[in-house]
Amino acid sequence: MSLTQSKFAFDLSSVELPECDQQLVDELTGFKEFGTKTICETISHNGVPVSVFVNEFWTSRQRAGHSLHEVSYRACFKPQLPKFFIDRLTVEGDLVLDPFLGRGTTALESVLLNRRAAGTDVSPLSTVLTTPRLNPPSIDEVRTRLDQIDLKTKTKTREDLLTFYHADTLREIGSLRSYLTERNGNGDHVDAWIRMVATNRLTGHSPGFFSVYTLPPNQAVTIDRQKLINAKRNQTPEYRDVKKIILKKSRSLLKDITAENQASFAQFGSAQLITGSADSMKSIESDSVSLVVTSPPFLNVVQYATDNWLRCWFNGIDADSVPIWKYTSVKKWSNAMTGVFKELARVLKPGGHVAFEVGEVRNGEVRLEDHVIPAAQKADLAPVLVLVNAQEFTKTANCWGIDNKTKGTNTNRVVVLRCDK
Ligand SMILES: C[S@@+](CC[C@H](N)C(=O)[O-])C[C@H]1O[C@@H](n2cnc3c(N)ncnc32)[C@H](O)[C@@H]1O
Repeated sequence: MSLTQSKFAFDLSSVELPECDQQLVDELTGFKEFGTKTICETISHNGVPVSVFVNEFWTSRQRAGHSLHEVSYRACFKPQLPKFFIDRLTVEGDLVLDPFLGRGTTALESVLLNRRAAGTDVSPLSTVLTTPRLNPPSIDEVRTRLDQIDLKTKTKTREDLLTFYHADTLREIGSLRSYLTERNGNGDHVDAWIRMVATNRLTGHSPGFFSVYTLPPNQAVTIDRQKLINAKRNQTPEYRDVKKIILKKSRSLLKDITAENQASFAQFGSAQLITGSADSMKSIESDSVSLVVTSPPFLNVVQYATDNWLRCWFNGIDADSVPIWKYTSVKKWSNAMTGVFKELARVLKPGGHVAFEVGEVRNGEVRLEDHVIPAAQKADLAPVLVLVNAQEFTKTANCWGIDNKTKGTNTNRVVVLRCDK
């Protein structure tokens, strides 16, 4: 069912919403912070009317997110998205969960806003990237630790990686990897920080990375593909100073930290982050979560495993053994999401909310939000509204909402659900 087909003339004033939801509806209806008025429509799912609000609700023109967010990850959302919902649907001290944690955008934004954070991701890389940024070291601690690590010792490493790295750089990466492996379990928050930054600097398209020019850092290409890139660009890897690059990126990540942030890290920085599947988060207590802000893997559009093979190698993770969900059929995807919604219904407090961000797939032919609502209803989560955030709204909005086929635009489609139990 497409949204255009399912429009109905419901009288929404007859639908009684809890106060918090009504406030959100009123705010979205009257929203014009960035100069455009909200388009409101009503759709129906299983006889339940659901309002759809389209506008530019958060924007790249807003003050940029905190510098700590600046680690790349495929299909991550901007911090403005979780902030929008955390500000409106929680109060300080509440627990906010992201069951598809990724680089930890929701968890970090929650801590920065003085909320408790929890998260799950089936990939162990997610905690590698998230944990150190919830309680970061000072730049002096990073510098001192880097000075203490010996990167000049020869270690056995993969010769084929010389396609990406100068021999001396590869030796430094190999030594750092061995150091971190030996300290694993005994390493402190400074080692964890260095691991996180190094994981982010492995490959990229500028001299700020350890590698020769390649694709952006969240999409590691295969060795064979890199050989082709090297031949085409007539390039050979130049020496890159691993410690210098880690220090520079650390400085940039840490630059926005204020005394207020330090207080938030001290109080809320030790979040519950789990490596596991979103449909089974056993260690998260029932009735404990006030808000879930998340974005699931879509229909096979992002190859997390192949994109992350080099990051996994550096961290001693067998990329092929990470059971990332990849669905090609909408039906199987919807069933998996119902499993997640049932688990969310367990951990949510009565009256708690879910903000579930989905994209469009197959060139806009499949609107996943149409499948999210019935999948959530099966788990007794009630649809509250759908919010479509359209950047460059005036250019891309059509009479209904958004021209999905417009290339290069950045829309977020978020289904907001409520847990009534
Ligand atoms: C769209 S990304 C989330 C990005 C995140 N919102 C951010 O800003 O970084 C989806 C994530 O789901 C994870 N994932 C895939 N299958 C999963 C499962 N069964 N349980 C939990 N996480 C899973 C992937 O590893 C990926 O990190």
